[in-house]
Order: sequence, then structure tokens, then C-alpha cells
Amino acid sequence: MNQEQITEAYDAAACMYVEKCFDELSYKPLDRILISRFIEMVNGGKILDIGCGPGQTTKYIHENRGNVIGMDISGEMISAARELNPAIQFSIGDMFNLKLKDSEITGISSFYAIVNFQYPDILKIFREYYRVLNRKGILLLSFHVEEKELKVENFFETGKPLDFYYFDENKIIEILSETGFNMIEALVRFPYKEEYPSKRAYIFAEKW
Ligand SMILES: C[S@@+](CC[C@H](N)C(=O)[O-])C[C@H]1O[C@@H](n2cnc3c(N)ncnc32)[C@H](O)[C@@H]1O
Repeated sequence: MNQEQITEAYDAAACMYVEKCFDELSYKPLDRILISRFIEMVNGGKILDIGCGPGQTTKYIHENRGNVIGMDISGEMISAARELNPAIQFSIGDMFNLKLKDSEITGISSFYAIVNFQYPDILKIFREYYRVLNRKGILLLSFHVEEKELKVENFFETGKPLDFYYFDENKIIEILSETGFNMIEALVRFPYKEEYPSKRAYIFAEKW
């Protein structure tokens, strides 16, 4: 599945995605704690929330810290994010090719943004994250664990297919280390009853 098909699926699903996911942090206490920990770790400067969707994590960072930009490749997701969060800056962008200078950013949050890509692409994405972070910049990454591929034929009732990848957290840590990141903390949690029933990993890494 190529990037165009992935973007098309998210564009088509944006309205339904807002309905299902925009308020999700209200029933995910651990995620709120982890984002708060991320905010605590990032020392000044600008945070980029990559693959932000309608901006639920961007909103939490904005309300608890400020100086955050939400970024996503789907124009429809960004339109929804702007409508729902008029005080926050959002931009359309590609995590494989961020229109940012080297070392411009102090923190990157990336919630489930890598879930439609496979390991070779993940390495490219992490290299781009690494490039734009400054030294000691922090990455908070989340994804589904217990390696498998899930082919969804009708993503959010849009009629569009979308492939998802779950990862082995140790392989993701290996790729982060290969990119040059230092691991700080990592954890795996069980799904909440309101969520799709997959275990999820959260990794804090630092540019060294
Ligand atoms: C599973 S959603 C996660 C959205 C949100 N962070 C959340 O936690 O609900 C993945 C998001 O990544 C975005 N995305 C896919 N490919 C991208 C790319 N190359 N650059 C930036 N965003 C991308 C999609 O448009 C989608 O909004």
C-alpha cells in the first residue's frame, strides 16, 4: 500500500475518526500521564505532534504546556483539527520529509503515526525525526505491539482499505538505537475496554 492510498483512507475517514477518537484521552489516564511526563522532559522550544490526526494529543499538549504544532499528511484531518482547535497551529506535512531545518524542534510526539508502515520505512521516519530534533530533544512514540499485519477492507466505513502493522517493541527500540536515539523509558499496556483490543507500547527516546 502506498502513501497516496494511506492518505486517501485517512482523508475519507476524518469525520468518523473525529467522532470515535477526538475525546479518547478522557478515558485513557495512562496516556495523559505519559504525555504529561513528555511535557516535563522537553526543555523549552517547540513540540511537533506528528501524524496528529484531528489533534487530540496536540490539544492536550497545548492545554498543558503550549508551543506545539500539529502536523499530518491528510488535508481532511488537518481541516478537522483546525476546526476543533482554532487556537492551535496545524500544518500539512510528510513525516518522511519534514519541511524543517536540522535541530529545529525540542520534542516530537508521534501517536500511532507509524502504524501503516513497515520496518524499512520506519527507519526512514526515525532518521527524519532525529534530523529535526535538537541535541537532547525528546521523542514520545506509540504503536500497537505483538507483531502482525492487519488488512482492513473498509476503514471506518469509508469503503477504503488500509493496512496496519503491529510491531515487536524490541525491534522498534533497535531501529531507534540504530538511528542514534538513546532509550529513556518504555512500557507496554493492555487496551482499555473502549479501545481496539491490542496492546500498546510507549517509548521515550532522546537524541544524543
Ligand atoms: C492511526 S492515525 C493516528 C492519529 C492520531 N495521532 C491518533 O492518535 O489518533 C495515523 C495518522 O498518521 C497520518 N499519516 C500517515 N502518513 C503520514 C505521513 N507520511 N506524514 C504525516 N502523517 C501521516 C495519517 O493521516 C493519520 O492521521
